[in-house]
Amino acid sequence: MPNKSVKNATICVSSEIGNDENFGAVTPPLYLSSTYKFEGFNKMGLYDYGRSGNPNRASLALTIAKMEAGAGAIVTSSGMAAIDLALNLVPQNGLVIAPHDCYGGTHRLLEARQAQGRFRVEFINQNSERSVERAFDEKPSLLLIETPSNPLMRVVDVQALAKAAHGVGALVVCDNTFLSPARQQPLKLGADIVVHSSTKYINGHSDVVGGIVIAKDEAIVEQLEWWANCTGVTGAPFDSYLTLRGLRTLYARLDVQEANAQKIAEFLEAHDAVAKIYFPGLKSDAGYALAQRQQSGPGAMLSFELVGDISHVEKFLTGTDLFQFAESLGGTESLICHPATMTHRAMPEAARKTAGIKDTLIRLSVGLEHIDDQLAELRRLFANISEG
Ligand SMILES: Cc1ncc(COP(=O)(O)O)c(C=O)c1O
Repeated sequence: MPNKSVKNATICVSSEIGNDENFGAVTPPLYLSSTYKFEGFNKMGLYDYGRSGNPNRASLALTIAKMEAGAGAIVTSSGMAAIDLALNLVPQNGLVIAPHDCYGGTHRLLEARQAQGRFRVEFINQNSERSVERAFDEKPSLLLIETPSNPLMRVVDVQALAKAAHGVGALVVCDNTFLSPARQQPLKLGADIVVHSSTKYINGHSDVVGGIVIAKDEAIVEQLEWWANCTGVTGAPFDSYLTLRGLRTLYARLDVQEANAQKIAEFLEAHDAVAKIYFPGLKSDAGYALAQRQQSGPGAMLSFELVGDISHVEKFLTGTDLFQFAESLGGTESLICHPATMTHRAMPEAARKTAGIKDTLIRLSVGLEHIDDQLAELRRLFANISEG
């Protein structure tokens, strides 16, 4: 009998291991076939066609569903496909409430669906009680939460928001990309659906673009599976295989990356050239107390504003060497980016301003390199500005 009380760190490593009945392979084999033989006339086997189902996708979905405490999961071709899949549950002309400081691609998708006439969207500050109350008065169909948010690491109260949203009959979707189920389980806090860009911590090696949607209730899983097959947004077998392989080390990676991020955040907080730092692991951070309550760690993402203007940012980022000057996050290597011209350039300037995403903001995805080398890279980059 499988032990149902095993910890997430164990599920992560042992799920789908040793299940191969053909050859006794310890790790799950890769099934690339796009089609599967019927068992007989009008008698379908477990799988019939790769868009509808695939063993590697199923292994990954099952594992993540367990880790997020959901009834099931759907593996998609990207994080954006995962979010768009969940949005299929919004009725025509329904209202979606989203955070004003969400990932730029999410902002663009919501704006585009609104412009198309599919549904209405309101971007609000989800930490403002008044804004939330006013938005819920309009009886939204779906509340989208992103916590910690990209790129300002704003932490919002999932439990309180979910309770209020359910009070007006709205479905609650939470983007858990920045923490992964190793540090936050939104379904246990009251969300109905969790979405991930598995491109980030879940895969963890910057070599797959993927997404996952997990739902608390079986009925919602079935609806999402139907839409995923209908629209064909399901993920590829090899991507699913690689993602499950990457997932095995999630806890070990996060433990080190998070400890490195804490030290870097403390270094930045004390630095004269830093105007503001955003990291929920610092006592001075606005989200610290809430993060202590709803997260089991601060994560390994942080952002900071430089003193000066965009020319200082350019000087700082032009000198990067150990830190890769690139978008994305959650890989083993440190990635540094400028949200205003990179990850959030799809967001109109006015919307960036409202969200508080300044031109002097830099985002860092802290990797597994030795902390001494990471701090040395930062010292060198700061020296580049002052040498200017
Ligand atoms: C919070 C968040 N959600 C969703 C996405 C979209 O994921 P993908 O790039 O895999 O489509 C991203 C991408 O950076 C993200 O940061």
